[in-house]
Amino acid sequence: MKILANDGIDSVGKKLLEDEGITVVTEKVKQEDLINYLKDGNFDGIIVRSATKVKSDIIQSCPGIKLIGRAGVGLDNIDVAKAQEQGMVVLNTPDSSSQSVAELVFAHFYSLSRFLQASHADMPQKGTNQFNELKKAYSAGIELKGKTLGVIGFGRIGQAVAKIGIGSGMKVLAYDPFIKAAELDLDLFGIGKIKLEINTCNFNDLLIGSDYITLHVPHKEGATPLIGADQIAKMKKGVVLVNAARGGVIDEAALINALDSGQVAGAGLDVFLNEPSPAGALLSHPKVSATPHIGASTVEAQERIGVEMAKKIIDFYKHYKRK
Ligand code: MLT
Repeated sequence: MKILANDGIDSVGKKLLEDEGITVVTEKVKQEDLINYLKDGNFDGIIVRSATKVKSDIIQSCPGIKLIGRAGVGLDNIDVAKAQEQGMVVLNTPDSSSQSVAELVFAHFYSLSRFLQASHADMPQKGTNQFNELKKAYSAGIELKGKTLGVIGFGRIGQAVAKIGIGSGMKVLAYDPFIKAAELDLDLFGIGKIKLEINTCNFNDLLIGSDYITLHVPHKEGATPLIGADQIAKMKKGVVLVNAARGGVIDEAALINALDSGQVAGAGLDVFLNEPSPAGALLSHPKVSATPHIGASTVEAQERIGVEMAKKIIDFYKHYKRK
């Protein structure tokens, strides 16, 4: 079996595959050259992260492909229905990146609450001669402890975020149309474990009652944003929002208006419409803490993703050989 890992794969996962006799090619092939490369190279499978798209053009032109591996959670860059229609198997790795995404969410919350992103941008130019002015400008920070965290989407990632919120002394409100309650395992490192049940609430109550809101829901290209001007208007004035889910979950124009008016005090954005060419107005907004879609990009998560992907492919391969 021969697989192209077009957006790379962690070395531990790669070795697991190679030990099973699977050839893993890690050359980065341009999107427009992929069909010919896959056909000419007689590949049986392709692994992608979010950069490479596997849509109907590739699926229909490359019938030799038996599996599409998505090293990550979201499947929006893969035409899953078309792949299944062609008898291809689509595998993803939902178990591996929750902690990394959750930690990034809190990095944005803390950054915005203490103006780190703006202060960091100012210090190199103004820190030597306008220190006291900057000290004054960034002196009204906010503590997270005692505030209410709203988690929209209470699957694995949402629950990992809630755990950090609880550990930070926050009250948690969670909304999920499919989950009524979730039992969280709080691992107090070296001390013990605590189980805590969180009942989800309705969407409106979360919007109205939260000081910090984070989104962990999927998004279909072109779908109406879950958070638009109407939803933002219901939120507390001065709310802080984070989107590490998908661009398009928040209406970007409505967000800019709300940042300008002060309705939203700050936005932490890891994902954008039109990646990899997001709107400059958001990136340069002083109330935005921006990262380039790196929620799952930690050494630990990438190794877990590589291993989870490899194990699933090996299982698939064994099953396929038996057929
Ligand atoms: C995911 O869906 O797992 C994340 O967006 C991370 C990524 O693949 O870049």
